[in-house]
Amino acid sequence: MHKLGTSDRPDWSLAVVIGAGGMGMAAARRLSQHHRILIADIDSARAKSAAETLRAEGGDASAIACDITDPTSVQALARETERKGGFRVLAHVAGLGPSAGDYGTIVRVNLAGAALVAEALLPLASTGTAAVLIASLAAHGYVPPAEVDAVLRDPTHPDLVARLSAAIGAGQATPQKAYQLSKYALRIYCQRASRAWGERGARIVSLSPGIIATPMGAREFDQSPRKHQMYAQTPLQREGTMLEIADAIEFLTSDRASFISGTDLLVDGGLFAALSHNAP
Ligand SMILES: NC(=O)c1ccc[n+]([C@@H]2O[C@H](COP(=O)([O-])OP(=O)(O)OC[C@H]3O[C@@H](n4cnc5c(N)ncnc54)[C@H](O)[C@@H]3O)[C@@H](O)[C@H]2O)c1
Repeated sequence: MHKLGTSDRPDWSLAVVIGAGGMGMAAARRLSQHHRILIADIDSARAKSAAETLRAEGGDASAIACDITDPTSVQALARETERKGGFRVLAHVAGLGPSAGDYGTIVRVNLAGAALVAEALLPLASTGTAAVLIASLAAHGYVPPAEVDAVLRDPTHPDLVARLSAAIGAGQATPQKAYQLSKYALRIYCQRASRAWGERGARIVSLSPGIIATPMGAREFDQSPRKHQMYAQTPLQREGTMLEIADAIEFLTSDRASFISGTDLLVDGGLFAALSHNAP
């Protein structure tokens, strides 16, 4: 029975959005045009306020507090998703930039957390389900040594952080390295997971943003001269916007992308191409 005065749309499929920060909210707002939204964040007040904003705009949204690095919390997210009748879309956006955490936290959130979420939701995926996991330009143009790669291919191992430090060597365990390795491994994770998702008729892809204007991105500019140098080489000579990322997420999770799986979409204004070819 419809509850008067609400925007409830029980007839719509569910999009689970992980991360209620800048890009997460842009993705949720876009997906809310045609999906119910379940938005999750470790910051429960942020998730709640995101859902309230979406509801105030006519969307059908609810919030859940979830720490993606905690398997119990991720299982609770999966149970809530199941209670809502399963999901059609996963937009996994939560992540930490190199200046937003220490080495271990960045590895846990960006890699272990993303893999825990994807694995917990996989049993609920069915024909037509699509998952997009946000990686980064930093995931490209780099191949780690074989012993590091072997550790990264087991992202939900309880000792991931210690095993990775041992493999990369003392002194290498910096937040910048954690960011590069975690985003690289997330991209490879989506390639490898595409078989299991495909067995359910479902798709999984990563999306690698270049330099995007978000509050997190602005903080990284303040802390990193290298980011200024990279920005100067972007062929389109500007930052990307959160709306442009939302466009790409909307496409990748739609039926128009129905044969796209196990791959990555770079949304970087041409920056990776410029860096690869030493453009002036
Ligand atoms: N902004 C850029 O230029 C850029 C470039 C490349 C990639 N990215 C990636 O885009 C994604 C989103 O960036 P953003 O600018 O929206 O970041 P943001 O900081 O605005 O949002 C990230 C959200 O993740 C949440 N979060 C952190 N740890 C969590 C945990 N353990 N469990 C659940 N939620 C957690 C935070 O509370 C926050 O709301 C990140 O994965 C980032 O690495 C951003």
